[in-house]
Amino acid sequence: MHGGGGTSSDHKEKFAFMKQQPPILITGGAGFIGSNFVLEWFDSGRSAGSEARSNPLVNVDKLTYAGNPRNLERLSGRPDYRFVHADICDRPRMERLLQEERPRAILHFAAESHVDRSIMGPDAFVETNVRGTFVLLDAARAYWASLGDEERKSFRFIHVSTDEVYGSLGPDDPAFTETTAYAPNSPYSATKAGSDHLVRSYFHTYGLPTIITNCSNNYGPLQFPEKLIPLMITHAVAGKPLPIYGDGLNVRDWLYVTDHCEALRMVLERGRPGETYNIGGRNERSNREVVEAICEILDELRPGSSYRPHRQLMQFVKDRPGHDRRYAINAAKLEQEIGWRARETFATGLRKTVQWYLDHAGWVEDVVTGGYQQWIQQNYGERSRA
Ligand SMILES: NC(=O)c1ccc[n+]([C@@H]2O[C@H](COP(=O)([O-])OP(=O)(O)OC[C@H]3O[C@@H](n4cnc5c(N)ncnc54)[C@H](O)[C@@H]3O)[C@@H](O)[C@H]2O)c1
Repeated sequence: MHGGGGTSSDHKEKFAFMKQQPPILITGGAGFIGSNFVLEWFDSGRSAGSEARSNPLVNVDKLTYAGNPRNLERLSGRPDYRFVHADICDRPRMERLLQEERPRAILHFAAESHVDRSIMGPDAFVETNVRGTFVLLDAARAYWASLGDEERKSFRFIHVSTDEVYGSLGPDDPAFTETTAYAPNSPYSATKAGSDHLVRSYFHTYGLPTIITNCSNNYGPLQFPEKLIPLMITHAVAGKPLPIYGDGLNVRDWLYVTDHCEALRMVLERGRPGETYNIGGRNERSNREVVEAICEILDELRPGSSYRPHRQLMQFVKDRPGHDRRYAINAAKLEQEIGWRARETFATGLRKTVQWYLDHAGWVEDVVTGGYQQWIQQNYGERSRA
């Protein structure tokens, strides 16, 4: 059995046997947010939405550079967890999988997600974010149409999206609400916007019970170290320069990843089909403030470091083309209608995050050296499809 939870036919049978409850099916569960979601799904009772977690979980992931099945190693062998190595663009595979697993809900995380990569190579973003979402929606529609009345009513397709679809705010503009007009500015946000529109259309045209969530920037454990916060932590620890785009005054609204996961569980149970919910932490910070805060925490946690004060490593570099100036989320609808509240402040969440990266140097090393990809190649390269 491998760390992702098993693709062998033995495990498949055992999984099918354990399915007293219909599973939830998630896509992209080996990525940053997805793997936090999967791990929490099986952790006992911290929060609202826990009643739902007796459901088994099927995790469908293509394992791109961003997917790391080692994140899920501790689920290995669980009879109520199944990992499926597959591409959401593979239509026959998605159709078959839905008929085999018969999920009560789909949570769609899988995407190409890094803005900088979308600028260098947008093709994969159009393929996975737009076409992949379309394939999954269409397969879900056929599966949903085949269900009985009760199951059809309670089925949900949750589309996990981003605040970047709304474009950029001026310094004094009000935060994005669910009715803010879409104005995506990067190939990443444009493809996510396209996928949101497809999801919306499947509710209005076919009645598929879809819900869209648009969340602000996440941070926390298991985030790929090319994203801002883990990049800065890992560079600072190694005494490397801390590259900050432009003047460092681009503002993001930061949300600790487990708060996002909890919001998704609550939307799954309480959200209304056809609706959009914005998710955000009311934690607006400029990139410069974020990096300074990381440096301060490291100064405190690593008093003996020869790179102290870590802020001396900060360097301003040429800006990203089309870099949005400010994002901010108004999450009032989610708070009032669903009862969600972020648990972490930026100070508590950032401290936990820095500590996690300090405690998991082996995980970082594995990702940075590409060790996990060699492991994926060894583990999956020769496997036949489940
Ligand atoms: N990270 C954030 O700050 C943030 C904020 C708001 C919304 N989101 C959205 O949340 C979702 C997850 O984001 P993340 O940061 O965890 O992304 P990530 O890049 O860390 O993970 C994406 C996962 O999707 C998988 N994947 C990619 N293409 C696939 C395909 N064709 N078929 C199957 N699997 C595929 C990858 O292997 C990876 O495991 C994305 O849809 C993203 O747009 C992210």
